[in-house]
Order: sequence, then C-alpha cells, then structure tokens
Amino acid sequence: MGGYFITFEGGEGSGKTTQIQMLLQHVESEFPTLDTVVSREPGGTASAESIRKLLVTGAADKWRAATEAMLMSASRHEHVVHVLRPALEAGKLVLCDRYNDSTRIYQGVVGGVPSADIEALNDLACEGLVPDLTVLLDMDVETGLNRAVERSGQGAPGDESRFESKGMDFHRDVRQAFLALAADHRERFVVIDAARDAVEVAKDVAGAVMPRLRTAGLV
Ligand code: TMP
Repeated sequence: MGGYFITFEGGEGSGKTTQIQMLLQHVESEFPTLDTVVSREPGGTASAESIRKLLVTGAADKWRAATEAMLMSASRHEHVVHVLRPALEAGKLVLCDRYNDSTRIYQGVVGGVPSADIEALNDLACEGLVPDLTVLLDMDVETGLNRAVERSGQGAPGDESRFESKGMDFHRDVRQAFLALAADHRERFVVIDAARDAVEVAKDVAGAVMPRLRTAGLV
C-alpha cells in the first residue's frame, strides 16, 4: 500500500493532539503538495464518533474491559475501512491519534483481556493494517492527568473524562505497559520525552518522522 501511516500513542494529557498539529504544520510547510489526513480513535467517522461517545463518557466502571475492547474494535473497523485504508491507498500521509496499541494496553495488559482475544479483535478490526511508525509520547502520569482533567472539563456537558477517572494506579500501569510494548517493537516505535516544552517535543517528532518519509519515498 502506498502512503505512510503514523500513529501517536501515550497516556492522558501527553500532548498527542498538539504534536499532531505541529507535525502537520511542519510537513505542510516543507511539502505543500503532500496530501495528509489527520484522524483519531476512538472515532474518525460519524458512526465511530458515536461509539466514541459511549466509551469516553460516564462512570469509570460503566463497561467491562472486554466490552470496551469490542466497542473500540467496532469503531476502529469503520475507521480502517472508510478512512485509513482509502487514504493510504491514495498515497497520503496519515497521522492518527491512537490506534490498536491503545487497545493492547488499556483493555489488554492493564484491563486484563487476554492478549489472544485482543489480537483476534485487532485482526478483525484492522484487516492487517499496521502503522509504519508509532510515536509514543511518554511523560509522568501526574502531570499528564492534571492536564487532561483540566481539558476534559469533568462534570461539564460533553465531559470526556471517563478514562481519566480510572485512577492513578491504572494510568501508571498504562505508562509502563506502553514503554514495554515499545521496547518489544523497536522497529516500529519511537519513544519521545513529552514532559518538555511542546516546541522541543515537536523538534524530536519531526526529527524522527522526516527521514522516514524520505526513506519511504513519500517526499
Ligand atoms: P483520547 O483522550 O486520547 O482521545 O482517548 C480517549 C480514551 O480512550 C483514552 O483514555 C484512551 C482510551 N482508549 C482505549 O482505552 N482503548 C483504545 O483502543 C483507544 C483508541 C482509546
């Protein structure tokens, strides 16, 4: 498949959305003719966004981890088929805020769903679509959660803080599990210290991404 597929992963408040926007600006200024698509999970199509709402609102214990894994996978399948794969087949650069590594970590390693079941769901949802590169934005859990809670407006209408309210231990486990996954897949992951000024982080992100786009022949 043509194109180039980059996913951004990390804990709550690690700055994925900001970093995706900064990378997009950088790429667009260097290569104005390159077609790019920015998307997110859970979500990315109208129907997947409606599943997102079920997942990210309400009480922390509203869904079992296995139910979450199925809902995440259902939303992902719509996203893969209707957005990600067509964009990649058209040769575009795709920047996606989370993908199936989040299910491996949040519902699998930390949520306790057996990895064989997670991989079966991933196979069904993704039909073999694997990121070319995954940028893991790593930072301490306390700072990240504080940022995320401020942003999600706990208690306000549209409050998306369901995962934030799972507690500090849950999020510490998420951080460690992401680092372990990255260590097991060095060929695909780059780990970036996200506990710094956003401009510094963005330089490292661009430094990791641009040479790979050249190697892949995209630019
Ligand atoms: P976001 O805040 O990064 O948009 O993600 C929403 C929440 O959904 C976040 O707390 C992580 C969680 N999540 C999972 O638990 N599993 C998944 O597969 C995905 C994509 C997200």
